[in-house]
Amino acid sequence: MNFSIIVAIDEKGGIGKNNTLPWHIPADLRHFKELTTGGTVIMGRNTWESIPDKFRPLPNRLNIVLTGNLNYVVPEGVKLASSLDGALAVSGGSTFIIGGAKVFEEAIRHEDCSDLFITKIESTFDCDTFFPFLPLDFQIVHEGETLEDNEIKFKFLKYSKELL
Ligand SMILES: NC(=O)c1ccc[n+]([C@@H]2O[C@H](COP(=O)([O-])OP(=O)(O)OC[C@H]3O[C@@H](n4cnc5c(N)ncnc54)[C@H](OP(=O)(O)O)[C@@H]3O)[C@@H](O)[C@H]2O)c1
Repeated sequence: MNFSIIVAIDEKGGIGKNNTLPWHIPADLRHFKELTTGGTVIMGRNTWESIPDKFRPLPNRLNIVLTGNLNYVVPEGVKLASSLDGALAVSGGSTFIIGGAKVFEEAIRHEDCSDLFITKIESTFDCDTFFPFLPLDFQIVHEGETLEDNEIKFKFLKYSKELL
């Protein structure tokens, strides 16, 4: 079953710092919510832990946390998986890989990764975590206009895998 990646990336490929997002862009959070609601979100344990308690699990979505520790405690309704394929096997509806870097690195090379929803931030932040290089078989299929929120310029792009 095909799945998508959704991520916000700065000009130098940065996605995180000290296990948190380096920026606050409410319009991007709304866009994330609109795209993922009703589907499945798959994330690494660090990304799960980066979400404040009061906001997790992400509502109206099946939340799946990847970890090698199957004794890891999560709230009722949240699923644990010990491999990406294991998580994909129990996902339902539109499925999104939502981070972080470790999971993106594996997911972007997976043959069923069909689409990337990238929020391209048009500035550079202090980051310690980076998005992997885009494989060449992904092409831009949509590029929105530059938007601005919280004094940060960004645009929404969609990449899809080239059908050979
Ligand atoms: N800009 C964005 O859009 C965005 C989105 C999401 C996250 N982020 C940022 O990214 C950073 C976190 O990324 P990260 O790379 O440190 O961590 P991560 O990918 O969120 O989590 C890594 C952990 O997930 C588990 N894991 C990953 N792949 C697995 C697999 N195939 N099978 C089993 N377990 C697996 C492991 O957990 P165990 O150690 O428990 O085994 C691993 O240590 C934070 O700064 C966060 O804010 C940014």
